[in-house]
Amino acid sequence: MERKLDIINPPFDSPVTDLIIEIDTLRKRPLKGSTHPAIFFQIKHLFHILESIGSVRIEGNHTTIAEYIENEIEHPSNQPEAILEIRNNENAINFIEENIDKSPIDRAFISELHKIVVKNLDREGSRQPGKYRLENPRITGSSHIPPDSVLVNDLMIELFNFINHKHPEKYDLIKVSLVHHRFVWIHPFDNGNGRTVRLLTYAMMIKMGFRVDQGRIINPTAVFCSNRDAYYNALQQADEGTEEGLLIWIEYVLKGLSSEIRKIDNLLDYNYVLLKIFEPALREAERKRIITQQEHKVLQLAARMQEFKTAQLKTVFNNKSSVALSRIVKKLRDREFLLPVSANSRTYIFNFINNELMREIMKALDKEGFLPIKDEI
Ligand SMILES: Nc1ncnc2c1ncn2[C@@H]1O[C@H](COP(=O)(O)OP(=O)(O)OP(=O)(O)O)[C@@H](O)[C@H]1O
Ligand SMILES: [Mg+2]
Repeated sequence: MERKLDIINPPFDSPVTDLIIEIDTLRKRPLKGSTHPAIFFQIKHLFHILESIGSVRIEGNHTTIAEYIENEIEHPSNQPEAILEIRNNENAINFIEENIDKSPIDRAFISELHKIVVKNLDREGSRQPGKYRLENPRITGSSHIPPDSVLVNDLMIELFNFINHKHPEKYDLIKVSLVHHRFVWIHPFDNGNGRTVRLLTYAMMIKMGFRVDQGRIINPTAVFCSNRDAYYNALQQADEGTEEGLLIWIEYVLKGLSSEIRKIDNLLDYNYVLLKIFEPALREAERKRIITQQEHKVLQLAARMQEFKTAQLKTVFNNKSSVALSRIVKKLRDREFLLPVSANSRTYIFNFINNELMREIMKALDKEGFLPIKDEI
């Protein structure tokens, strides 16, 4: 049923009101994370990969986390379509983070996102990247028939006006939810609408104050990727266009966002990260002989200190000569398990991106329930 796009007011005693109040306290709370920014950045990178794998999976890209990591470590120059689709999604996330502060969320911004999402793809590509569709598609697995293509432009103008209209802040989360549904309901592109809308939700959340650059990573797409049926059912409720249907949809979105934000906030607490993620991952790495016992010890210290100079290791390795220690550090550096904090610096930081430790870190995250998708890693 077609409905004018407008704010709705949830009853004061509805679960939606409770969720809005709850998520708003998270948005306003100052962040006092103990995780080193460079370490946090690596974790954030892993989550971007997970968001991307999850987002492309909705429509049947079957790349597993394990395959993706394998590819990144062993054959980074290999780019089959399935991997490219995930990379595109990661690039789109980066595009958002780099441009969201200088750019309004308008047609140009969405066009750019869509172009990045479908770039160089065949099966999951688009005939007109960045341009609205000229035909009337069906959505696989859904009974919704998007509006006729001649209506798309006007509907999108209405959508952008709604996004950029200055409603009171208390409506922000309702807006994010309504915009997500309205966008895919319109289905402005011939393909890639789902991938684009999940990115649009991310962009809107950053604009609303869930700042990634101040340390909080948020993984809103996990909400939509972990259970495709629940996502499609909730969208279908919103298709009804009734206030009741829309409230069911909004509740679905906000419940997911709230649990994601809480989960991810744990990663700002470095004690938690060290104990639950890094240390188990390093133990596994030694067990599998990815690293030696000595290397384990050095990496464990590196992880504990977050940032260190080789000389600082001496106190712990009092039976080792500095030459021997430097040799271990050099080897770990060559394998990129340690990286200088800046070029030529002698201060190092623990690194698990695109090396053999990445898989062990993912496994530890999985064990702690962080992965939005169920995979054997
Ligand atoms: N009942 C519905 N009403 C509105 N939108 C829907 C409905 N069911 C599904 N959708 C949206 O349509 C998207 C699929 O559209 P499309 O194929 O253009 O996107 P995609 O990015 O190529 O695929 P996908 O999101 O499935 O990976 C879904 O991700 C979902 O967001
Ligand atoms: Mg598609």
